[in-house]
Amino acid sequence: MFDLTGRVALVTGAGQGVGAGVAAVLAEQGATVWVNDLFEDRAEAVAGQVGGKAVVFDVTDLDAVRAGVAGVGRVDVLVNNAGIPVEGFPQVDFKDSTPELWRRFVDLDLYGVMNCTHATVSGMCERGWGRVITVSSDAGRVGLPIRVSLYGAAKAGAISLMKHLAYEVGAFGVTCNALSLGGMEGIPMDASQNPIPRWGRPRDIGAMTAFLASDEADWVTGQVIPVNGGVVT
Ligand SMILES: NC(=O)c1ccc[n+]([C@@H]2O[C@H](COP(=O)([O-])OP(=O)(O)OC[C@H]3O[C@@H](n4cnc5c(N)ncnc54)[C@H](O)[C@@H]3O)[C@@H](O)[C@H]2O)c1
Repeated sequence: MFDLTGRVALVTGAGQGVGAGVAAVLAEQGATVWVNDLFEDRAEAVAGQVGGKAVVFDVTDLDAVRAGVAGVGRVDVLVNNAGIPVEGFPQVDFKDSTPELWRRFVDLDLYGVMNCTHATVSGMCERGWGRVITVSSDAGRVGLPIRVSLYGAAKAGAISLMKHLAYEVGAFGVTCNALSLGGMEGIPMDASQNPIPRWGRPRDIGAMTAFLASDEADWVTGQVIPVNGGVVT
């Protein structure tokens, strides 16, 4: 089950954190994994750890994405994971926010997903098999009292892209899904009252990604799947 031998996966923003865990699990399942990041040293380090290859580009720059994908060649599995801005992740009331800040999140969490998906999905359709898996967030699925409306709005946009694209490409053997992540280890909040009393680990996300990337998940598309320890239902 869930054997990815022969598949080529591209994981964006995989130079650390969730993406690095996803890259590791996909490689363990047999995929050839391309580790993308903005930073070459991060991408090279993770590629070395998982036995994959590094590809450096900024997901917000469509020309750079197209050039990077051309260098990779065939992409069977795209994991849109890049989503935390390197400029910082301010939590701010919407009424105090600025268009500059809106753009930071929309550029990365919506345009980044559109750029990478657009650059790879046509090839998947031509070959008759493909997987687009977008790492979203509970902040994009429900309202939360943590002042992340800009991030949530962009994450919700990417979820909607997956739902609509699923209709357009399903007949070509391509599925499109989104993962709704909860808090991951490292956030400064107590997890002891959570249904599963810990925060998420990158490999938790890797496991769901490996399932969605597999042949066995052939009939799962257009979904937003919470992977959050049961915290937000
Ligand atoms: N950490 C959490 O608690 C949490 C919760 C819910 C959802 N998520 C989502 O999980 C995903 C990964 O988050 P993380 O916590 O592992 O992030 P992270 O900041 O630890 O790592 C993300 C990596 O993405 C790279 N990156 C950033 N901008 C990029 C760009 N424009 N092009 C290419 N690479 C870029 C960074 O250099 C970094 O190495 C994101 O989509 C995030 O929104 C995270």
